Amino acid sequence: MGLGVSYVVLFCLMFVFAWSQDDDVMQKLKKAISTPIVGWSDSDICKWDGVRCDGKRVKSIQMNQIIEGTLPKELVQLTELKYFDFMGCQLSGSFPYMPNSLQNLRISSNNFTSIPNDFFNNMTNLKEVRIDSNPFSQWEVPSSLKNCLALQTFSAVNAGFVGTIPEFFGNNGPFPGLVDLFLSFNSFEAALPLSFAGSSIEKLWLNGQKSNNKLNGTISVLQNMTSLTQIWVHGNSFTGPIPDFSNHDQLFDVSLRDNQLTGVVPPSLTSLNSLKVVNLTNNYLQGSPPKFQDGVRVDNDMVRGNNRFCTSKVGQPCSPLVNALLSVVEPFGYPLALADSWQGNDPCNGNNWIGIVCSGGNISIINFQDMHFSGSISPSFASLTSLTKLLLAKNNLTGTIPKELASMPHLKELDVSNNLLYGEIPSFRGDVVVKTGGNPDIGKDKKPPGPSGPSSGGEDKKKLGVGAIVGIVVGIVGLLGVAVLVFVMYGRRRKRDGKVQSPNAIVVHPHHSGDGKSLKISVAASGSSCGRVVEGTSTAFSPSSSVQTVEAGNMVISIQVLREVTNNFSEKNILGKGGFGTVYKGELDDGTKIAVKRMQSEMVGDKGLTEFRSEIAVLTKVRHRHLVALLGYCLDDNEKLLVYEYMPQGPLSQHLFEWKDDGLEPLGWKRRLSIALDVARGVEYLHGLAQQIFIHRDLKPSNILLGDDMRAKVSDFGLVRLAPEGQASFETRLAGTFGYLAPEYAVTGRVTTKVDVYSYGVILMEMVTGRRAIDNSQPDENVHLVTWFRRMLINKDSFAKVIDPAMEIDEEGLESFKTIAGLASQCCAREPYQRPDMGHVVNVLAPLVEIWKPTEPDAEDLFGIDLDMTLPQALSKWKNFEGRTNTFDSSYSSSMITSCENTQSSIPPRSSGFADSFTSADAR
Ligand SMILES: *[C@@H]1O[C@H](CO)[C@@H](O)[C@H](O)[C@H]1NC(C)=O
Ligand SMILES: *[C@@H]1O[C@H](CO)[C@@H](O)[C@H](O)[C@H]1NC(C)=O
Ligand SMILES: *[C@@H]1O[C@H](CO)[C@@H](O)[C@H](O)[C@H]1NC(C)=O
Ligand SMILES: *[C@@H]1O[C@H](CO)[C@@H](O)[C@H](O)[C@H]1NC(C)=O
Ligand SMILES: *[C@@H]1O[C@H](CO)[C@@H](O)[C@H](O)[C@H]1NC(C)=O
Ligand SMILES: *[C@@H]1O[C@H](CO)[C@@H](O)[C@H](O)[C@H]1NC(C)=O
Ligand SMILES: *[C@@H]1O[C@H](CO)[C@@H](O)[C@H](O)[C@H]1NC(C)=O
Repeated sequence: MGLGVSYVVLFCLMFVFAWSQDDDVMQKLKKAISTPIVGWSDSDICKWDGVRCDGKRVKSIQMNQIIEGTLPKELVQLTELKYFDFMGCQLSGSFPYMPNSLQNLRISSNNFTSIPNDFFNNMTNLKEVRIDSNPFSQWEVPSSLKNCLALQTFSAVNAGFVGTIPEFFGNNGPFPGLVDLFLSFNSFEAALPLSFAGSSIEKLWLNGQKSNNKLNGTISVLQNMTSLTQIWVHGNSFTGPIPDFSNHDQLFDVSLRDNQLTGVVPPSLTSLNSLKVVNLTNNYLQGSPPKFQDGVRVDNDMVRGNNRFCTSKVGQPCSPLVNALLSVVEPFGYPLALADSWQGNDPCNGNNWIGIVCSGGNISIINFQDMHFSGSISPSFASLTSLTKLLLAKNNLTGTIPKELASMPHLKELDVSNNLLYGEIPSFRGDVVVKTGGNPDIGKDKKPPGPSGPSSGGEDKKKLGVGAIVGIVVGIVGLLGVAVLVFVMYGRRRKRDGKVQSPNAIVVHPHHSGDGKSLKISVAASGSSCGRVVEGTSTAFSPSSSVQTVEAGNMVISIQVLREVTNNFSEKNILGKGGFGTVYKGELDDGTKIAVKRMQSEMVGDKGLTEFRSEIAVLTKVRHRHLVALLGYCLDDNEKLLVYEYMPQGPLSQHLFEWKDDGLEPLGWKRRLSIALDVARGVEYLHGLAQQIFIHRDLKPSNILLGDDMRAKVSDFGLVRLAPEGQASFETRLAGTFGYLAPEYAVTGRVTTKVDVYSYGVILMEMVTGRRAIDNSQPDENVHLVTWFRRMLINKDSFAKVIDPAMEIDEEGLESFKTIAGLASQCCAREPYQRPDMGHVVNVLAPLVEIWKPTEPDAEDLFGIDLDMTLPQALSKWKNFEGRTNTFDSSYSSSMITSCENTQSSIPPRSSGFADSFTSADAR
């Protein structure tokens, strides 16, 4: 009792202390501001205008008045402060350190003169940084920023930055969630970081750099930034051609004006469906003046604009001669000197095109000698049949001499000396003088080392949506899921490598109990890294001498195996890319397909590692036939990999939105219903049937994967959160995808299962209408699917218009269609309490799907990964597998257990579950 009382006293003391602490700081803040602040006079700071508290602690400060003064260094003591918005005040001085709790920092348009270089060191929760338009003295982007793993918005327009744009903003950097990068009107120089390729950045503003040289080099890296929606790079010194934008399905605003871009405007830009605004003025663009689709706001005015289009009439083609010349210089990257001089539609009118000599209206000589060109020799030279001399000497040309050149009828001289060409010299007519000296590898049948040939531009890797593409393991090895599988690998790493091993990995290890009815799993921490390796075991798999084996049933899989099965993470094996990493397809020796997710390395700090592990630990508890299963994982020093079922039919988004482009059949109504039910069941399980409450937070069609039977599974659990014991609602850092975020979540960050129900409702709407949650190709008032859908639904007349035109629907279907449309609308209700729970959704859907229950046997059985499989069934399948691989040796499993350094025991007896990308820690 006495103890109880003293706790109460202590508690009260802490309370008072906490209160007075913030009170003190706020009074100091008030004092440091020299302008009187309206509404800051109450004795309770929590009642001050723009101040919000959580209990007695200050949580948020928003200043809406123009005030002068400075900020006190004590602000760092507001350790519950999350939101700090002093935009547009006139505060000056150095900006002080802020508490680690801060999530939103908004101090644009003030008179601050500096921010400490180590300011961001401890700011691991910052997701929004807005420091635009302050008179900061020149500084480079501080490397302490790398600690802000949660960063989503970095806005530093006119913020005094000099130097180069750091690589760490890009792919594999510390900011997997970065979507807005605003760096206009600084003094950055040199080239764009190559790491931008594959990044998740959506809005990129780099316009108007004030340095002498501005940003330069090519903008080719934009081609691989397929998440982009807005590109502002105008007012720089970029050169080279506009890259291919065919994978940019969200891109709507492209401002490339006022650079030195050359070449032909690519059809991938002019035909881009999502495009709304484009400005190409004041470049050196060539070819035919581009014709954009109706409704695109274009400004490529030829009169003011400096461009070098061949005519002034939009859409009018260039003369064949000009087209031939353009295709000849394409591999050279459309050199600026040529673009500058090549004006008009007739190279021979006036004879002033650099490098071109005409005779009687035909091109007779091309002289590109010593012009610092690189790239390959285009076979298109051969189409210039009147050529007598082709002079390409003293450049850095690579590749081979195209054999087409040998057929040019009037050619007298070909000079390609002093380049980097290789390969056979085609056989020219006897009267042609061919000069090839000074090419070290000419005549040799191999590529020279060093500068490689031009990329052939055949850049048609299919973009499969942001979500991870993971899937069912088809066929025999459903057993992987039961984790009684022997992985064989051709290891190259020997123990003598002396490589530092990563810290403990959690190892889920199954034993067979004597009665053969239950699988017992012990959990141990393995001292080794990526899979435990036992040397010298000979196997049926490999003739190599350094064959190594991973223990049976070990969910830890070696990096070597994963390298092997993914062709060393070959580009060709990429299934998709997400915020947290790249997913590769892999094939085991027996033909089993797996999906391997490789995390971006830099973002895995100590904290990330802890999360990665605890995520696996948590997620191994959840296992369901409509959730994609984790089969194993790998933790190496620099590598974090997760291995999943492979889902052959890819994401639902592809079947709903991209089926035409991908040559797929549109999904019929019955299929859609059955997919909707599968997803509902998976989410229902997450929400409660797994004993604890898990919230997915990122449901969307690209995270719903289909098997060959078109049954669906939910994937991508990188953002899954476990509700704290006994709590149905909690606060997290906002994460997810626009268009699917429940309004209350977007505003407050509070998460309940109803957040998932909302997203699910959006998915239903997408399945019903075939339209994306956010469809920028629609007029403004229709862009947001939920709003539009609700409006259409209210009006009986417009009801039929919501039906996806891609599917046929009969009388019977129409009834269920109405039910689903109503259900979707209900799920997206504004207030969380108005939304049904997933149990209700399943109850509505199940009877509708029963009507059309397919007659063929449940396909999951065929895939052998049926989670309802009895253990004897599982074991017999495993034995089959074992029989074929011949590598299982139980002695390794016991040796592994004994060598573990420490033992955890919190994982329940389920052999495998799933997991996905880890996230950096949530706010709490
Ligand atoms: C802010 O800076 C500008 C320019 O440096 C100056 O004109 C203005 O007076 C400053 N305002 C305050 C309140 O210090
Ligand atoms: C950052 O945190 C460490 C300990 O967590 C502390 O020692 C250090 O003073 C903090 N630095 C700043 C700039 O707040
Ligand atoms: C690009 O800018 C950097 C730094 O300003 C300069 O050193 C470099 O020569 C420039 N490159 C080109 C191709 O102009
Ligand atoms: C874009 O990606 C392709 C492969 O996907 C790669 O070959 C190419 O070099 C990349 N280009 C840039 C500029 O990053
Ligand atoms: C395009 O850029 C020019 C300046 O180069 C500007 O005057 C014009 O307003 C811009 N047009 C659009 C549509 O943004
Ligand atoms: C130019 O080419 C055309 C067709 O190739 C030919 O008829 C004509 O004679 C050529 N003119 C000269 C001066 O070679
Ligand atoms: C070829 O490239 C190298 C380096 O890229 C450069 O130093 C050299 O001047 C170039 N040669 C010619 C002839 O342009």
